[in-house]
Amino acid sequence: MNHELSTKILAVETSCDETSVSILEGLGKILFHTIHSQADVHARYGGVVPEVASRSHLDVLPLLVQEAFQKISADTVDSYAATVGPGLASALIVGTFFTRALALGMGKPFIAINHIEGHLLSPFFGQETVTSHIALIVSGGHTLLLDVQGVGQYVLLGKTLDDAAGEAFDKVAKFLGLPYPGGIQIDTLAAQGDAGRYVFPRSMLHSGDFNFSFSGLKTAIRVFLEHDHTAFLPDLCASFQEALVDVLVAKAIRAARIHHRSLIAVSGGVSSNSRLQAKMASACSHSGISLQIAEPGLRTDNALMIAFAAAQRMKAGIPAPKDVPIMPNLDLATLCKLG
Ligand code: KG4
Ligand code: ZN
Repeated sequence: MNHELSTKILAVETSCDETSVSILEGLGKILFHTIHSQADVHARYGGVVPEVASRSHLDVLPLLVQEAFQKISADTVDSYAATVGPGLASALIVGTFFTRALALGMGKPFIAINHIEGHLLSPFFGQETVTSHIALIVSGGHTLLLDVQGVGQYVLLGKTLDDAAGEAFDKVAKFLGLPYPGGIQIDTLAAQGDAGRYVFPRSMLHSGDFNFSFSGLKTAIRVFLEHDHTAFLPDLCASFQEALVDVLVAKAIRAARIHHRSLIAVSGGVSSNSRLQAKMASACSHSGISLQIAEPGLRTDNALMIAFAAAQRMKAGIPAPKDVPIMPNLDLATLCKLG
């Protein structure tokens, strides 16, 4: 068997409010996988509290790794990977240093992974080849459009200038009195609503570039709520969601056309949004573009996507950088040099 195809990687993800540990063999054989979500803990604060997140990672991570080693002998793990950024500094510290210490103790290499690259490659999980495509990453912390030539070859086309798409969902949900995380709540309510009932701004739809802005939309909802107390919640959710999704779909399709790509890959928590999936599928099929969306379990933060990114980087021959610190503000330019 090809060495790369049998390599076992233990990966750790602690960049925000999920503690996740996975052991991946090759590019797609899942030997161990677990995600511990702290969403319940943070729900009472209406958002993620960094100090609470890091303490919870510290409590939970050793137990999850112990569980992993009960299933797969530590001696058989070939390398260790962890998210080093971007994310909450206090949360990244726990996963990065725990995993680096583990690699050091076991005498195995440590592979530093950029969380964004994890999301970006997640729609290709299990696949040998990452074909050229336009990547739309829509999560609680990020909204990015990239032109992807292959593993490690990413050109940033645009990003949000303010709130991330998931953040806009969560903040609007908060205005509406819905529990955190609000994306799924809005999605569910919107399914019974009329998306044409209210018209909210499609910010930067015609900006001519690939950047996004969602804070104007968020403010429009807040101002609307100050003046209208009788709105039917499902209609409001559907109209907000439609405005946000319209911009995501239009810009992704335009990026594919301009950059001559015949595939769009969508990842991150917001890729679970049913309206985004439906509109993107229909726009892609009208334009002769294929669509690949990350599998449900790989959309929100997880260590499998980190292990897969590490495996793909090894396969591409990108050397693991030595002594990488945590990088809370790790961006894509640094990501491309992280090798
Ligand atoms: O990828 P993820 O864990 O976040 C970051 O890595 O930052 O995604 C979480 C985000 C949250 O903002 C959540 O509200 C949103 O994904 N989300 C959704 C849906 N499911 C999760 N947003 C819209 N519709 C959904 N169905
Ligand atoms: Zn994420």
